[in-house]
Amino acid sequence: MTHGQEVERRRTFAIIAHPDAGKTTLTEKLLLFGGAIHVAGAVKSNKIRKSAASDFMEIERQRGISVSTSVMTFEYMNRKINILDTPGHEDFAEDTYRTLTAVDSVIIVIDGAKGVELQTRRLMEVCRMRNTPVIVFVNKLDREARDPFDLLDEIENELKINVIPLSWPIGSGSSFRGVYNRYAKKLQLFYSADKQKRSDSILEITDLKTPETDAAIGESANAKLQEDIELLDAVYPEFRRPEYDDGKLAPVFFGSAVNNFGVRELLDCFVQVAPAPKKSRTDVRDIDPFETKLTGFVFKIHANLDPNHRDRIAFLKICSGVFERNKPYLHVASGKQIRFSSPNTFLADRKSIVDESFPGDIVGLHDTGNFKIGDTFTEGEILKFKGIPSFSPELFRYIENADPMKSKQLSKGIDQLMDEGVAQLFTLKVNGRKIIGCLGALQFDVIQYRLEHEYGAKCRYEPVQLYKACWFTGDDKSQTEDFTARKYNYIALDKYGRNVYLAESAYALQMAREKFDRINFHFTSDF
Ligand code: G4P
Repeated sequence: MTHGQEVERRRTFAIIAHPDAGKTTLTEKLLLFGGAIHVAGAVKSNKIRKSAASDFMEIERQRGISVSTSVMTFEYMNRKINILDTPGHEDFAEDTYRTLTAVDSVIIVIDGAKGVELQTRRLMEVCRMRNTPVIVFVNKLDREARDPFDLLDEIENELKINVIPLSWPIGSGSSFRGVYNRYAKKLQLFYSADKQKRSDSILEITDLKTPETDAAIGESANAKLQEDIELLDAVYPEFRRPEYDDGKLAPVFFGSAVNNFGVRELLDCFVQVAPAPKKSRTDVRDIDPFETKLTGFVFKIHANLDPNHRDRIAFLKICSGVFERNKPYLHVASGKQIRFSSPNTFLADRKSIVDESFPGDIVGLHDTGNFKIGDTFTEGEILKFKGIPSFSPELFRYIENADPMKSKQLSKGIDQLMDEGVAQLFTLKVNGRKIIGCLGALQFDVIQYRLEHEYGAKCRYEPVQLYKACWFTGDDKSQTEDFTARKYNYIALDKYGRNVYLAESAYALQMAREKFDRINFHFTSDF
């Protein structure tokens, strides 16, 4: 196969959802259809149970599981499909945000009874920033679900994206009869039989107004279906591929992941419409995946399980060229040539060493603490990929050294954990105090625990009342100086030495934005 054909057949995506909507179940069913696993249950849920929020062993367990399910690969209809896993716990949202920087499209799972939930909205904002193409799967139709028209309206309004239902449910819960594929004009009947096997009870119909359809789903359900389809045809016109590619139009499917129902339609549509790897932006030029020289960036760093070794796995997204085992590549940040003798690829439940990887693929690189999120690898060109931001944290605490004998270990530990993207560190200009900012409260516990167990250092936290951290830039020197002087107690430096305003309240931030109109406040670090 040529390099171009290898690129063309890659589909790299993530499934995102509010916890409990059915992400793990759907992932598993996709792997089942793709033949990567043969029985359900092979993919472990990477959720931290709510009751275990402060159970550190549970956190450790989660880290272990999420390494092995970080990337799941399977072949389907001659496509090579890479599913990038995202953490199930909302306190690890930043990890999910970063994973979204490495995918070419996403599938959003929504619980049919609950509709669009908070975490889905937030994740969609990240997709919108990058114009990521989106397919929606409305799950759990085997339970009483909301009216599908209402759900479509809610998806449009809450996720701010146009929708086009490509399948349509017939009832839900106890009256669930199946889904009608508008596109292929096929009716798939629902029997909640064996959940582990594929369900193939499909009725191909060109005309719904037949006694066979009446017999299959019941006369009144068929009448309702015909009415719905007429309405859908009038309200939701055709699927327009360019709009999907731009992240403006989302095909919607209905089904029940746990019952394997509607999953094949979703997957068949996915392989037809989901984009192959696209161009990526860098500070120098756009990188085309069809270029023959390797480029790629680190989007995630994972500490290894063995606390006695501080080895980590850095996940590299290949953007162009071919990644070859044992070939030296330039690590742009350090200027060093590095070769990797055992780059890993991932399967459903195991890792293996890979000789060659192509754009769209993810390789796991062994790292002894030198790599940072966003680091670029090339064959010599000096560039940095854009669009791999840190997000404004919303939770803050002062971090203090609780064991003065171990201050070196503490600063090394903090430094490395920040490189991994566990949280962000800000140093106040006024007094040099250090503040940790993150998006989920659990991260504070993770940091404290890992500092102690991996670095032998102890920290304690002190409360600090802050609302949001935002980076700021300005072209009006005197206004910037005036702002910095007035807010001096709230100005900090991030780990790259950039100015950050730690807004004390939403009101203060709003006032600052109004008063200092020549200053740009940024809510991600990528500006
Ligand atoms: P998540 O990764 O998005 O957090 O969700 P997950 O797949 O773990 O699913 C959450 C719960 O919803 C699971 O039940 C799962 O079995 C159930 N579920 C998923 N898809 C469907 C569906 O189509 N219909 C119905 N009725 N339930 C569904 P659980 O009780 O938390 O776990 P389990 O013991 O069943 O595994």
